[in-house]
Amino acid sequence: MVSVPVEITINGRVFSGEVEPRQLLVHFIRENAGLTGTKVGCDTSQCGTCTVQLDGQIAKSCTVLAVQASGSTVNTIEGLSNGVDLHPLQEAFWNKHGLQCGFCTPGMIMASEELLRNNPSPSREEIRHALEGNICRCTGYQNIVSAVEEAAGAMGGS
Ligand code: FES
Ligand code: FES
Repeated sequence: MVSVPVEITINGRVFSGEVEPRQLLVHFIRENAGLTGTKVGCDTSQCGTCTVQLDGQIAKSCTVLAVQASGSTVNTIEGLSNGVDLHPLQEAFWNKHGLQCGFCTPGMIMASEELLRNNPSPSREEIRHALEGNICRCTGYQNIVSAVEEAAGAMGGS
């Protein structure tokens, strides 16, 4: 079996290894790096549960090969808090009941973090637009939008 070397910085830590050329980034994150916060919901780029930030921009990690991400920086849900305090988005999803089963939550939060970085005071419409690539089977979305709104306020937006 052919394998190729990859080296990816995930949440500030370098992970390297030999992988099959077809290995997806999401599997590298979960299996090689052991960071299981990032979920696989569909494997066909539909659901957004695998959303991470790749060199600062959100990406569905089931649509990227690990070899393509070699040399890049990835941020996952595990890198969002400082290990002690929840990130304001995590806090707001909790406060506003923005999750039920929680399966979509890591992807929702990583996409929301990018939104708030670029637009600190988004309207509900803008939040919905930013999250349209992320599917939730549980909540009906109202509470997710409210959570992002609350986090925007907590982070200095409105
Ligand atoms: S698992 Fe990647 S979009 Fe669904
Ligand atoms: S909280 Fe269950 S899929 Fe979104």
